[in-house]
Amino acid sequence: MTTDGLIRPGAIWLDDRGVHVNAHGGGMLFHGGVYYWFGEHKTEGEGGNRANVGVHVYSSTDLVRWVDGGIALEVVDESGHDIERGCVLERPKVIFNARTGKFVMWFHLELKGQGYRAARAGVAISDSPTGPFRYLGSGRMNAGVWPLNVPVEYHRPLSSDEVAGIEAIRACTATRVLDESMHYYYRRDFAGGQMSRDMTLFVDDDGEAYHVAASEENSTLHITRLNEEYTGSSGEYVRSMPNRCHEAPAIFKHEGRYYMISSDCTGWAPNAARLSVADRMFGPWRELGNPCCGSESEVATTFESQSTYVLSTPSGPIYMGDRWRPKDAIDGRYIWLPFEFEDGVPVLRWREAWSPVGMV
Ligand code: DGJ
Repeated sequence: MTTDGLIRPGAIWLDDRGVHVNAHGGGMLFHGGVYYWFGEHKTEGEGGNRANVGVHVYSSTDLVRWVDGGIALEVVDESGHDIERGCVLERPKVIFNARTGKFVMWFHLELKGQGYRAARAGVAISDSPTGPFRYLGSGRMNAGVWPLNVPVEYHRPLSSDEVAGIEAIRACTATRVLDESMHYYYRRDFAGGQMSRDMTLFVDDDGEAYHVAASEENSTLHITRLNEEYTGSSGEYVRSMPNRCHEAPAIFKHEGRYYMISSDCTGWAPNAARLSVADRMFGPWRELGNPCCGSESEVATTFESQSTYVLSTPSGPIYMGDRWRPKDAIDGRYIWLPFEFEDGVPVLRWREAWSPVGMV
């Protein structure tokens, strides 16, 4: 909370109790005239990157003064539970389903003690925006379904011999991903479901909702249309920007076109943002380049941040990113900057302090 009504990217942001806001990798929901900010509740130290508490929610009517709404989804003290305390639960996003009247939360889930191998999407649901959210389940995406945009000749799961052969090649090469022409990972994962790591949700004007996630060992984004309840896949999905290793996707719509800001894939270290555009959510998506303007290091590191969400307001979109502090997770900072449009192209510039008045 600031007393002068300004947003100060990178500063300590105090909530109504005088505590630094604890909602990392977050997302916004605007509902009934109120902004709800959901994010990862981090704790101190390196271990604080794991989910020791759950998903925190705050509310505001001006994007500056934030009221602590508590823990919207709590982790569970039951050994072996999917969201057992100590799991990895990242990038929670909440959308409202006008058909069912429910608030639906999706997040990236990694099972406790298994590193980043599980690569699951988790879902929880609530009757109220501040929760408590009820955990529905988690899993890989789109098991047994082919992406809409791959040629029929690739509708062929890999045999275990093919997997073994290609894993041997992977083990010997320094490259993180395979040649796209091999159409490997999504065929490998056909039966068990597609990997789902960094993710976002987007609800279109027609009420269709989409889940966008880093899949295929983080090499390729998958864009999935959700079912009517928003609680699972509709069975329709596409591969997007294969082998470009986009993480941290966030979508916004401007003048009828879809934009995505995302990052490269460098762990907690910041890297250069990427802006992409499409005429439809299912693409094709075209990369426009880095939307950041400023010094060399600002441009190379996205002002030392990684995207997590873009909030659309009547006066334009607001970039929201995390300045991670992996050694002391709770000290992570928030970098929010309004997009400016230059010749119709969205760009970001650093601002020490700025007012969202007139935007909200
Ligand atoms: C980058 C991702 O964007 C974060 O959400 C987190 O998963 C880190 N990698 C972990 O290294």
